[in-house]
Amino acid sequence: MIPYGRQTISEADIAAVVRALRGDFLTQGPLVEEFERRFAETVGAKHAVAVNSATAALHLALRVAGIGPGDRVVTSPNTFLASANAAAYVGATPDFCDIDPVTYTLDPVDLEAGWLDDTRAVVAVDYAGQSCDLPEIARVARARGAIVIEDACHAVGGAFYAEGVAGGPWSQGGNRWADLAVFSFHPVKTMTTGEGGMLVTDRADWAELARTLRSHGIVRDPARFETAADDEVLAERGSWSYEMQELGYNYRLTDLQCALGLSQLGRLPEFLARRREIVAAYTTAFAGLEWLTFPGMRNPADAATASWHLYTVQIDFEMLGKTRPQVMAELRAAGVGTQVLYIPVHLQPWYRKTYRYGPGKCPVAEAFYARALSLPLYPSMTDADVAQVINAVDALDLATIR
Ligand SMILES: Cc1ncc(COP(=O)(O)O)c(C=O)c1O
Repeated sequence: MIPYGRQTISEADIAAVVRALRGDFLTQGPLVEEFERRFAETVGAKHAVAVNSATAALHLALRVAGIGPGDRVVTSPNTFLASANAAAYVGATPDFCDIDPVTYTLDPVDLEAGWLDDTRAVVAVDYAGQSCDLPEIARVARARGAIVIEDACHAVGGAFYAEGVAGGPWSQGGNRWADLAVFSFHPVKTMTTGEGGMLVTDRADWAELARTLRSHGIVRDPARFETAADDEVLAERGSWSYEMQELGYNYRLTDLQCALGLSQLGRLPEFLARRREIVAAYTTAFAGLEWLTFPGMRNPADAATASWHLYTVQIDFEMLGKTRPQVMAELRAAGVGTQVLYIPVHLQPWYRKTYRYGPGKCPVAEAFYARALSLPLYPSMTDADVAQVINAVDALDLATIR
């Protein structure tokens, strides 16, 4: 069975983890800092903070930016739950605006039209690895005093061109429009650390606070201590001293995971090249299918720079004369795994119960969901695997079998 996504682990990746296991640190050793430094360089951000998931990174992004009760955070409904849930973690109200029907990413026109005064942040998701329209999203948000958090979980290593802006390609997470960006290293993503995530920003104060919050709000540097040295209880200071200055968490990524992350980061160009190759093959093969729409690009040049985490097509099931479960079952019988990404987040029971959201709130995302199907895409797919997927999709419609 060809799954819709999977990790690509080499002997070199395994050797890197084994080397780390033989070292002195299993967690919080030198590889954490090295991974952060190399990752920041790769995406072109000043600071990177490694955490144990992108969910944690989203939570920290909102915390360091001071988003909390009374604030609204708008995101795309076409995303994994975490993009919205993080707002609820900090006591803010998660809200949604609709998506663009061509790129399936947050629509800045709808964002502007539905803007509410209490909105303090926009979580802008690079769905499937294609950049959302960050320049427009930032224009709308910043003019109203809100920040932009780029959810680049799908877009590790991706880049985009901005219309009307000289230069580029601008990298996801390392561009001038996102105030903070988060990445996921979950196994189906473009590179992996098992579980893991990264928060990047150009602001040193936010990065420092995120590092403190990552480990229980603990500060060990005496130069940053808040308590006066003559405080009765804390007066005797030594190498054991530390202060808890914030209510933080255990969001640490381990040295073992960073060893894998560093090794995978070195292979990222190779991963991305293969993903782009497979996408080009799919797009050429599916061009003639009337009942299938493949992902559109805002800017055709982005096809060569996007990171392509997912290849999600839209199928006109009515025209094909089959339901989605039938299509998925036929593909499974042909050895092809598929997935539906995503159920619009505002339609989840918790969102309906808590915020009274429901069908009709984001009609474009809801229509997209009704037709969406993600086909297999991962770097270790062979040409034979790609051909098997194409043939299985073709065979869904007897009229198109080649
Ligand atoms: C768009 C998006 N945001 C956030 C997350 C959360 O990432 P993690 O699983 O690393 O917490 C995911 C993961 O699936 C995602 O796809």
